[in-house]
Amino acid sequence: MKSYILGITGASAMPLAERSLQLLLQHKYNVHVVLSRGAYEVWNSEIGVKIPIDTNKQKLFWSHRLNLSTDTLSCYRWNDNSAPIASGSYKTNGMVIVPCTMGTVGRIASGYSLNLIERCADVQIKEGRSLIIAPRETPWSPIHLKNLTTLAEVGVKVFPPIPAWYSQPRSIDEMVDFLVTRLFDLLDEDLYPIKRWTGNSK
Ligand SMILES: Cc1cc2nc3c(=O)[nH]c(=O)nc-3n(C[C@H](O)[C@H](O)[C@H](O)COP(=O)(O)O)c2cc1C
Repeated sequence: MKSYILGITGASAMPLAERSLQLLLQHKYNVHVVLSRGAYEVWNSEIGVKIPIDTNKQKLFWSHRLNLSTDTLSCYRWNDNSAPIASGSYKTNGMVIVPCTMGTVGRIASGYSLNLIERCADVQIKEGRSLIIAPRETPWSPIHLKNLTTLAEVGVKVFPPIPAWYSQPRSIDEMVDFLVTRLFDLLDEDLYPIKRWTGNSK
């Protein structure tokens, strides 16, 4: 069974994180979820719901909220640096950080693994495994751009969650589906049947 790490940090765009989790669980993949400390606060601001920090309660929370089995879900605290996923000896098919703050980008780029998300990202890079980040900030400063370049140069795929208009989204949900599916395209996953560009019809 495929296994992915989903890091959620305190940037805007939490619906992308939630839809990613939902689709991964619908595919019955093993999902390892870590929210940064800041992510709890931003989730509350954007979605208006508090996510439990306690990992057992959090599993129950996702199961109710997504109305899905969470048998394949593992939740970790941001400071659980002895979690299995913190070690290179624990194999996964890749890691996605969505949304990704510029703080997390900077800490990963400098090898400064303060929390479990940053440690897992560091492991993905050192082991030569797939790491996809969806950085969200605007505008990007030269510091942000340098840090993103550093990551791109070591093989991290940088996926800014910028919507496409050619798919003619009729709702925010459609836009979210498009972005999440394009994000997971980078891991060679086809999570959801989106309307893809097939050329201009005459
Ligand atoms: C409502 C809200 C929205 C935020 N949006 C962003 C954002 O889009 N990008 C970003 O880099 N930081 C954003 N921040 C700031 C980060 O949450 C903050 O710097 C935090 O310490 C980052 O920690 P983390 O990288 O461990 O999640 C936001 C904060 C709040 C309260």
